[in-house]
Amino acid sequence: MTIQKIATNHLSRVSLRDGQSMPWLGLGVWETPEAQTADVVRQAVKLGYQAVDTARLYKNEAGVGEGLAEHPNIFVTTKLWNDDQGYDSTLRAFEKSARLLKRDVVDLYLIHWPMPRQGQYVESWKALIHLQKEGRIRSIGVSNFEEEHLVHLMDETGVVPVINQIELHPYFQQRSLRAFHAKHRIQTEAWRPLGKGVILGNSLIQTIAQKYKRSSAQVILRWHLQNEIVVIPKSVNPERLAQNLDIFDFTLSREDMEAIATLDRSDGRMGEDPQTVTFK
Ligand code: A2P
Repeated sequence: MTIQKIATNHLSRVSLRDGQSMPWLGLGVWETPEAQTADVVRQAVKLGYQAVDTARLYKNEAGVGEGLAEHPNIFVTTKLWNDDQGYDSTLRAFEKSARLLKRDVVDLYLIHWPMPRQGQYVESWKALIHLQKEGRIRSIGVSNFEEEHLVHLMDETGVVPVINQIELHPYFQQRSLRAFHAKHRIQTEAWRPLGKGVILGNSLIQTIAQKYKRSSAQVILRWHLQNEIVVIPKSVNPERLAQNLDIFDFTLSREDMEAIATLDRSDGRMGEDPQTVTFK
């Protein structure tokens, strides 16, 4: 399947294994200050963004809810925080997030981190399954899960997450986990798609950007799309918000895709390691 067939414009959606679909590109609001969030979200929607990704952790779900108050059809994702894992506490945490988002039904709800040492992600997952059956969540998925955590969830419940949102960018390409996702039809979604902005200065990316008369950020986001990865770049800047959406009218050549593939590094991870993260 080529990207031209699957994401021809900003309205294109990817089909999920549960029969639902979601936009290929959304606005990420990690580190967007609560006071600014409603405005940024409104601005993004005006530009054409079709999805917003937040989390309990970001403390800006109320801002997202306010920004989307007039836009009930914009796809919204939020996530269960680690402290709220466990069956009953997940049900309570979901209610709180839904209230802040001003949504009776949330499009996508994710377990934010597996926290394997905490040992509660299966119970949490059972609560997500229940909420989906009750019609409160359209699609259920996970974030930062590694293969062994996905296998454990599937073995224990028989329910496969529709999506796994993971750190992914040209310096950290997660090839083996992506292959596992493809095998089980779990959609891959990238957080930190621009690698915190650090990769924008990479000389290969800059050379490719000049060739297409695009910015480094556009080249990287396009690279994600052509790899069939859902992206949620964060920006609070109106020009960069517009730029990040304007990636549907050019195609990176096979050679350029292969060149970017060589940037993968064994030490490319910039965020936390799901196996050892503590957060507390
Ligand atoms: P800002 O919000 O000021 O635009 P990531 O999504 O990989 O975590 O990267 C987000 C970082 O990259 C933020 O610091 C954001 O800053 C910056 N950023 C987002 N879009 C662009 C862009 N098109 N060009 C340059 N920097 C960008």
